[in-house]
Amino acid sequence: MTFSVTVAEHGVSFPCESREFVLDAAERAGYTMPSSCRKGVCNTCEAGLLDGEVDQRGRGRRTAKEGAALMCRSRPRSDVTIKPKRFEKIDIFRRKVIPAKVYRLAKPAHDVTIVTLRFPIGLRAPFKAGQYLQVLMEDGDRRNFSLANPTRDNDAAELHIRHVAGGKFTQEFLPKLAVGDPLRIEVPFGDFFLRESERPVVLLASGTGFAPIKSIVETAIHRRSTRPIHLYWGARRREDIYLEQLPTKWAANLSWFEFTPVLSEPTAAWTGRTGLVHDAVLEDHQALAGLDVYACGNPMMVSAAQRDFTETHGLPEAQFFADAFVESSATAELQPIEAP
Ligand SMILES: Cc1cc2nc3c(=O)[nH]c(=O)nc-3n(C[C@H](O)[C@H](O)[C@H](O)COP(=O)(O)OP(=O)(O)OC[C@H]3O[C@@H](n4cnc5c(N)ncnc54)[C@H](O)[C@@H]3O)c2cc1C
Ligand code: FES
Repeated sequence: MTFSVTVAEHGVSFPCESREFVLDAAERAGYTMPSSCRKGVCNTCEAGLLDGEVDQRGRGRRTAKEGAALMCRSRPRSDVTIKPKRFEKIDIFRRKVIPAKVYRLAKPAHDVTIVTLRFPIGLRAPFKAGQYLQVLMEDGDRRNFSLANPTRDNDAAELHIRHVAGGKFTQEFLPKLAVGDPLRIEVPFGDFFLRESERPVVLLASGTGFAPIKSIVETAIHRRSTRPIHLYWGARRREDIYLEQLPTKWAANLSWFEFTPVLSEPTAAWTGRTGLVHDAVLEDHQALAGLDVYACGNPMMVSAAQRDFTETHGLPEAQFFADAFVESSATAELQPIEAP
């Protein structure tokens, strides 16, 4: 059965099958709205439910607040009217499942592996800088990782993978991965990509949240953009800023690019900025209304930045874009639903 989804304040409606999620139907119709994990874990896709009914069975650990619903987990049970935080028409690239091969493996830090994948000859998969792919595991589970390569290199994928304790992919599978091994992926996904605008950009990364940021900056360099970008990269220790030399080089060579590494647990030798990375942005900018902010990585950093920037420092919600690196394990879907 097909229902109609109307988007309040946008004068847009699109069809949604009773068995599909509203987020998937919106994307099929050529629209994007905030989303990240697509598994009911991060709450990024929460939207007002102004009219109608949805079924949110199978959702993850989070539940939407009263009068709202998680668009990645909601199937319509009637015609519905929704009010997402942002709703845009975009050129959505067709998703492709690709039998990729491991081309290179590097370990820039003790808990980070950079995996470079190559696609079969002649196969390209266009994506927007900042988007992510899903690794398809043999048991049917999937894992989300952001693309770190610039968009012109769309016959390959560079992934910066942080090892998580007990992680099925990062601790059991990744250490056995060798150059030449096959890895099936689906690409692209995600709403985290740079929007056209005249406003200067603040990029906020924690840990491997640098991966999509690298793609955004390298794509800007390739397109000869001169839009001002200030990257703040936060980590506990200096070795966690695992490619520090790269943004340092960009800052030395590009007049429009600034780089501020921020450590929360520095050694005595560190002479740079310290504390929480989003606090460093607030120290530098009293008012944020004239900026676009893109935050990526640790979910706690992302939600603290969103709260402090939008609630007390004047950043409009529509100018805050984020990917919270929440876990994508199937177990996250099986946990009991908690109040937010
Ligand atoms: C849109 C998106 C993009 C992402 N991009 C990247 C990326 O570029 N690089 C990257 O390193 N990670 C990224 N992540 C996070 C990554 O997908 C997860 O860390 C993934 O679940 C790890 O898989 P695993 O099988 O090793 O661990 P799992 O088997 O999924 O989890 C094992 C245990 O670790 C916990 N856990 C897993 N991941 C995390 C986490 N991120 N933070 C805290 N606890 C965790 C789980 O709750 C579980 O208890 C992204 C996540 C999203 C939603
Ligand atoms: S909860 Fe829907 S995208 Fe994360």
